[in-house]
Amino acid sequence: MTTKKTAKTTLAGKRTKPIRVGVVGVGRGQSFASAATALVGMKLVAICDTWKEKLHEAGKRYGVATYTDYDKFLEHEMDAVVLANYFHEHAPLAIKALAAGKHVMSETAACKTLAEGVALCRAAEKSGKTYMFAENYPYSAASQELRRLYHAGEVGDVRYAEGEYNHPGEENWRLSISPGLKHWRNWIPCTYYCSHALAPLMYITDTLPTSVNALSITEKRTQSPNTTKVSDMGSVILARMDNGAVFRIWGLMLSSIHRVRYEVHGDRGYIATAEPNHWGTVRIHHEEWLRQSGEPNDLSYRPDWPEHAELANRAGHGGGDFWVNFHFANSIRSGEPPYLDVYRGVAMAAVGILGWRSCLEEGKAFPIPDFRNEAKRKIFADDQWSPFPEDAGPSQPPPSIRGLVAPAPKVIAHAQKLWQQQGYQGQ
Ligand SMILES: NC(=O)c1ccc[n+]([C@@H]2O[C@H](COP(=O)([O-])OP(=O)(O)OC[C@H]3O[C@@H](n4cnc5c(N)ncnc54)[C@H](O)[C@@H]3O)[C@@H](O)[C@H]2O)c1
Repeated sequence: MTTKKTAKTTLAGKRTKPIRVGVVGVGRGQSFASAATALVGMKLVAICDTWKEKLHEAGKRYGVATYTDYDKFLEHEMDAVVLANYFHEHAPLAIKALAAGKHVMSETAACKTLAEGVALCRAAEKSGKTYMFAENYPYSAASQELRRLYHAGEVGDVRYAEGEYNHPGEENWRLSISPGLKHWRNWIPCTYYCSHALAPLMYITDTLPTSVNALSITEKRTQSPNTTKVSDMGSVILARMDNGAVFRIWGLMLSSIHRVRYEVHGDRGYIATAEPNHWGTVRIHHEEWLRQSGEPNDLSYRPDWPEHAELANRAGHGGGDFWVNFHFANSIRSGEPPYLDVYRGVAMAAVGILGWRSCLEEGKAFPIPDFRNEAKRKIFADDQWSPFPEDAGPSQPPPSIRGLVAPAPKVIAHAQKLWQQQGYQGQ
């Protein structure tokens, strides 16, 4: 099976003025910093992090200006800001950057409350700048090929789809990436990190979620007695989509298997990622009586990249880390909104937030607002519902279906020792 090329985008020409980029957060943010190169018409000019030691180390590596203060960083001469700070603190920083006339690319999640989602949509509209949600999973070779197949009519209309992102991890590794009792990884409700499972399905099928039901999955703490995580390990989310289809999104950190996987069931066939490598292998299936001339009955293959194979092959997350910078730069240059625009980003955050509401009511359905419509979204402009510790209050929800379960003192002592060894100064 040969895959058709559908390349429409180009890399920046040599004479194009580079887009000057600043990156916030030098953990995950270093993927964006390293990929902000002349190859995509970008130039890294500044980085910002509140963790001084890590910032200076990264500053030396990249040879660019460093800032611990976000407001000072925003005053640096630059065109675009990439936000890779804490998961639940992106929207306020994105709104500030848009107001300062910068293009913004923001890591997942786009916002932590529905109120922030409304404010972010308004800020992006008012600014006239590019806002891109930095989901990298839609851009693996397999996901891009599934989108091509779907739009070529290979399986008809999607009726059901499954997205799975499950990333278990050994206890000390988990502690090391969650420094601090209030670090977001210790608190994040299990539905909030849904975009790795959901974004590729939305991208493949061009659908948006309109309602959500979810159930939370707990594990016995014997798997991981020293955990400082106060939230649950995984969830199953059912989303009704705007074409009537049902999507099932599940996983997170369940101890069973590390896996990323997508399936699309159309009304005349099935396309999916497949073994041995769900980043790069695709399967097509047609039942015999529905098969049209030239279509396979059952076929698995490794598709080509649609374009720029050499650059994509060098990037992390199945090539996805190259494509996010590439699409961000192309959107800035062309003035066309990126596929993962502010509305899709906020819709995915809303699946996480309202999915958590649903878990706390054992699967009750919650409608997802249409964030493109001011009359519909303004109803949520004051909805500050949040399970994160800094928002604690009488009407706020717990981060687990077990309520608020504090780690034992000896677990805290073990974690703090490890965090101190890695240079973390806080609690
Ligand atoms: N797409 C992916 O594949 C992927 C992978 C890993 C992480 N992420 C995302 O990247 C983001 C960052 O995660 P991480 O793994 O780097 O861990 P992290 O969240 O612990 O690190 C964030 C960094 O930002 C810094 N920071 C926090 N607040 C800041 C502020 N106000 N100003 C400046 N710096 C600030 C912290 O000091 C830290 O160095 C999260 O949103 C996460 O969801 C995405």
